[in-house]
Amino acid sequence: MDSKMKEYSDALEFIRRQYKGEQPEIGIILGTGLGALADQIVQERVIPYNFIPHFPISTVESHFGRLIFGKLGNTSVVAMQGRMHYYEGYSMEEITFPIRILKLLGIHTLFLSGAAGGVNLDYKLGDLVAVYDHINLQTDNPLRGSNINELGPRFPDMSKPYDMKLVNRSLELAKEKGYNMHKGVYVAVTGPNLETPAEYRFMKIIGGDLVGMSTVPEVLVARHMGLCVCAISVITDECDPDNLRSFNLDEVIEIAKQAEPKLTDIISTLIKEL
Ligand code: HPA
Repeated sequence: MDSKMKEYSDALEFIRRQYKGEQPEIGIILGTGLGALADQIVQERVIPYNFIPHFPISTVESHFGRLIFGKLGNTSVVAMQGRMHYYEGYSMEEITFPIRILKLLGIHTLFLSGAAGGVNLDYKLGDLVAVYDHINLQTDNPLRGSNINELGPRFPDMSKPYDMKLVNRSLELAKEKGYNMHKGVYVAVTGPNLETPAEYRFMKIIGGDLVGMSTVPEVLVARHMGLCVCAISVITDECDPDNLRSFNLDEVIEIAKQAEPKLTDIISTLIKEL
């Protein structure tokens, strides 16, 4: 067995001993300030990441680190409360390890949430954005190295990275509910620094609408394995190169928190409808 597959099977075996309920259909990654969707899940089992063999542990204070199994409506879900970022020092392989585990646990669809900067100046603080495409400016790739053929192809297709039915449905739901929502192209960077004015200008010129330090590695690994993907971000800072304010983490977390009920509402409705 490939040594990576051995690590996956160690983690799976441990999780299956801890959680003997229904196979989850949906995986959810709860990002910065967006962990409260966990409260809507009727929880059946909670497993801290540090108990699971080979699982990386998030070092960011604003993130919990636990896997939550339970029900959202009638749907069995598994949520990652807290995600790992490349800027924390993990390898791309480490930060996407949990996505492989979720797939092997049986999910067919992955929902991701997170905070992002608004490069598109029509976006306002607290607006939601359904990601419909991305531009990867990260300098490393989780699929680099020998391919695990059991999981997916060497050269995974990226012609349809995000599920357009879910993008369109989330926009409809937002309209019905009176939430400001857009669809946009996510530019992925590694961070941890924020961007310079010239970098934000560049991102706009190349066709980006929002920028963030997460999401894309997970999406690459999820699409490699054929998972259906839906990513929704909250705009936590406005990236106007000609009028750029200094970055304030407390403000970003506060804005993400304020938007949390809207995002929770959209994602939980989408899941209940699936
Ligand atoms: N840039 C990169 N990542 C981010 C930003 C940003 O402006 N805002 C939130 N995450």
